[in-house]
Amino acid sequence: MPDAIAILDFGSQYAQLIARRVRELQVYCELFPWDTPSERVLALDPKGFILSGGPASVYTPDSPFIPVYILGSNLPVLGICYGMQALTHTLGGKVAPSARREYGPAQVRSVAPNPLLPEGELAVWMSHGDRIESCPTGFTVLASSQNSPIAAIGDLERRYFGLQFHPEVHHTPQGGEILRRFVVDICQARQDWTAESIIAQSLQRICQQVGPEPVLSAVSGGVDSSVATAMVQRAVGEQLVAVFIDTGLLRLGEAAQVQVALQDALGAELVVVDAVDQFMQALKGVTDPEQKRRVIGERFIRIFEQQARQLGQPRYLVQGTIYPDVVESSAPDRSKAQRIKSHHNVGGLPPDMQFELVEPLRYLFKDEVRRVGEALGLPHELVWRQPFPGPGLAVRCLGEVTPARLDKLRLADAILTSELHSAGLLHMQVGEDELYGTAQAFAVLLPVRSVGVMGDQRTYQEAVALRAVTTQDFMTADWARLPHELLAKIANRIVNEVPGVNRVVYDITSKPPATIEWE
Ligand code: XMP
Repeated sequence: MPDAIAILDFGSQYAQLIARRVRELQVYCELFPWDTPSERVLALDPKGFILSGGPASVYTPDSPFIPVYILGSNLPVLGICYGMQALTHTLGGKVAPSARREYGPAQVRSVAPNPLLPEGELAVWMSHGDRIESCPTGFTVLASSQNSPIAAIGDLERRYFGLQFHPEVHHTPQGGEILRRFVVDICQARQDWTAESIIAQSLQRICQQVGPEPVLSAVSGGVDSSVATAMVQRAVGEQLVAVFIDTGLLRLGEAAQVQVALQDALGAELVVVDAVDQFMQALKGVTDPEQKRRVIGERFIRIFEQQARQLGQPRYLVQGTIYPDVVESSAPDRSKAQRIKSHHNVGGLPPDMQFELVEPLRYLFKDEVRRVGEALGLPHELVWRQPFPGPGLAVRCLGEVTPARLDKLRLADAILTSELHSAGLLHMQVGEDELYGTAQAFAVLLPVRSVGVMGDQRTYQEAVALRAVTTQDFMTADWARLPHELLAKIANRIVNEVPGVNRVVYDITSKPPATIEWE
């Protein structure tokens, strides 16, 4: 078992971010709803606890509280925002509503020597209503800001700490260092959560789970299913059969890339099912976005079932479930959220099939999946690809999906991608106040025709919309401020090189109110 930190989630929108920051320090951690039974949390054998922020106030009835086992464990505790207030309240300090809600950047100054905070002034991100009026016994004030005289507290003997600000967000530039000091210096957790150690443990676990039995995998072309398949292939070799269903809805060259990567480079036994015609038939005349998703999902399951039968119905099925899926599915409000799009996972588990799941990525964040994928020998371009929706190009080919329209779309998309790649904008980087590059960028083929003139000829052809966004979580997104010269070059190339397209527009809506995909 790697050394671990347990993070208790009090309902913060940043809880997953805390976990990602700790993992970036190469320390394993898990996120638990605050009221998880103690046995489950302690089974992790944590070296310390982090208590997240949350929307509640310690004085409202039924507000979340610090479970007793945490304070009984004699382990270090770091409370962030609500976590700090709950710690203060429980240990006898005073929390009160602040006169002014504090939201946004602030400067705090370290006022007492301590092992948690770097010395001097720190730029931080505040987001709180309540604040600490007096520390519990044993605590001293470690940092102050103009609005929060008690911005950080600590009981150095018991190794309890509280921060009014958020070290996990990138607006707190020294936040990573603060978390490192807590996790590594104070909790003394070993930084042993590396791609190599993740792989070693995972291989052992997979072998234990499946023994000598055959294992089936459905490869969709996406990063997660490819990495999960590569991991299981490394663990059980020939016991694995991977099925790749070519839907004809992937981007240019992708289907071939997946085959080369898994079959030729890793030596996996890959059954390639050419289902392009079947999907095209099923999508004939379908223009409604939800209907497209349903048709594709159902067709995929039918073909997969048939393959599984032909392969003797193996008992185990590989799933590329990753940690954010696991965390989100345990969040209480999920079922109440309105369905904007059915994000079924094409390539996912047929609901009525009797498989035992092998989920080697279940505890990994996306960045970790990518690093593990590279360490397993998958190509860099495959594992660092931008996210791609399960229903593929069907939801970017507005109106009816036909082979000819898909060809146009693929070509336009490849031009956009290659120009962004040359400009170094195909990945996103997080600056101090700004996000650079693109988190997702693609072409959309519109079902409208407009008049143009090429040479001396009138044209009446389809239009392509370019969509490029910056985002960290894909829940909200802003349109990427791509350089005008670059947009001009892309538009020019698309109109010249893609037959049947005579107009290119750039989508300048954020999410919300728009979504990232057009369907
Ligand atoms: P939207 O369009 O809702 O998309 O802003 C948010 C993110 O989810 C991806 N997406 C999907 N992923 N199946 C998927 O696996 C789907 O049906 C699907 N629809 C959208 C989208 O590409 C973006 O990254």
